[in-house]
Amino acid sequence: MKRTLIKHVLTSDAIGEPVKVAGWVRTRRDSKGGFSFLEINDGSSFSGIQVVVPGELDNYESEVLQLTIGSAVVIEGELVESPGKGQAVEVHATKVTAYGLADPDDYPLQKKRISYEKLREIAHLRPRTNTFGAVARVRNALAFATHQFYQERDFLYLHTPMITSSDAEGAGEMFQVTTLDLSSPPRVDGAVDYSQDFFGKPAYLTVSGQLSAETYASALDRVYTFGPTFRAENSNTRRHLAEFWMIEPEVAFADLSDNADLAEDYIRFMFQYVLEKCPDDLAFFDKWVEEGLLGRLNALATSEFRRITYTEAIDALEKSGESFEYPVQWGADLQSEHERYLTEVVFDQPVVVVDYPKEIKAFYMRRNDDGKTVAAMDVLLPGVGEIVGGSQREERHDVLLASIREKGLPEDEYWWYLDLRKFGTVPHSGFGLGFGRLVQFTTGMQNIRDVIPFPRTPNSADF
Ligand code: 4AD
Ligand code: MG
Repeated sequence: MKRTLIKHVLTSDAIGEPVKVAGWVRTRRDSKGGFSFLEINDGSSFSGIQVVVPGELDNYESEVLQLTIGSAVVIEGELVESPGKGQAVEVHATKVTAYGLADPDDYPLQKKRISYEKLREIAHLRPRTNTFGAVARVRNALAFATHQFYQERDFLYLHTPMITSSDAEGAGEMFQVTTLDLSSPPRVDGAVDYSQDFFGKPAYLTVSGQLSAETYASALDRVYTFGPTFRAENSNTRRHLAEFWMIEPEVAFADLSDNADLAEDYIRFMFQYVLEKCPDDLAFFDKWVEEGLLGRLNALATSEFRRITYTEAIDALEKSGESFEYPVQWGADLQSEHERYLTEVVFDQPVVVVDYPKEIKAFYMRRNDDGKTVAAMDVLLPGVGEIVGGSQREERHDVLLASIREKGLPEDEYWWYLDLRKFGTVPHSGFGLGFGRLVQFTTGMQNIRDVIPFPRTPNSADF
């Protein structure tokens, strides 16, 4: 007989029909009447299904009464209307097959709550908890929604390389990729001889697919990437990972304001989608993780974003009279505390900050006419701060070359990027949205390490 996922059984109206489900035992209760209740969860939905196991089954004593939390079982039986509260249907078992048991003395996921910190140490088991199952389903929904959003708007999904020789952000936060023997690398004149390395020169894990995406947007009009990116920044915060997923759309013939429109539409679409597709998971987060989450997501799904310039943002922060850990000063980058103050206190809505000082932004951003700022944009959300970083790109060859030189970047590594500005150059724009931060925001989870299966952070690459 074919197995049915529990999410489909829960909404089935095939009362009286045979049914087969499988999953892991969440609870077992034995009744004095000589039968048992099992709650089985297979991760297909937040709720599990209740199974009533009669004492008459051959293996009742030998197997059913041995089932503990975490044991794997397959149940065959009949779907019946449930007399109990909280569920419409349940399964009356005619056959229970026990697979792996889980010794309660060793199996860490028992009834009592475990802290998120502790769960990170057993990241191979945490998807069996309510919280991490719900996170996984929401993350999946948001990934699917991303493709739907861009595909419906005729964007082409592009696979950009993970190994690269150029630093897309020019910030020098790249992990090196090498096959050289690090204990005795070949040398010429004291320096490491990279001509003998795998790629014949130094290579790194990419920090962004943007530069590659620009080449395709300059031919196919609108593209997006959705892949892992890597940053060797030593940021031990609740919103930084060394390996994280980013969505990067890139659009030709688009300026900064078009870019901000796209980012707003995309973010609102994400909230609408997840509200529609994951109501049970979100209700759980609203109840147990962040009170008011549902109301907030519903409001944001249709809300306008406030657009201000960096200069206005600095003004607002200076006027606030608030004392920040990092001083507020025109020319300094906005810190997380400033970003959150702007979106949570000053404006109380999502904020798009544009036109940052050129010194604190990447070399590829388009120089504004004031000579001081570039056409950058960051989108700030309450709770997480920056979720999107983007810009209009510098499409003028001479200005871009000057910027590369000013920032002291290796000009010859960017020859192909400069070529785009020589042949059919076009105003174009794009942004990167940190997928982990989006999942954080949508679930209310405080730490980005708890919204990705196996987080990579300084001193931690287990599992
Ligand atoms: O602002 P960033 O550095 O922008 C870029 O990489 C551009 N090349 C994007 C583009 O224009 N195509 O990063 C974009 C977003 C940030 O706003 C943040 O949400 C996320 O990526 N991000 C991180 N998320 C988790 N851990 C980290 N270490 C992150 N660094 C950036
Ligand atoms: Mg940024």
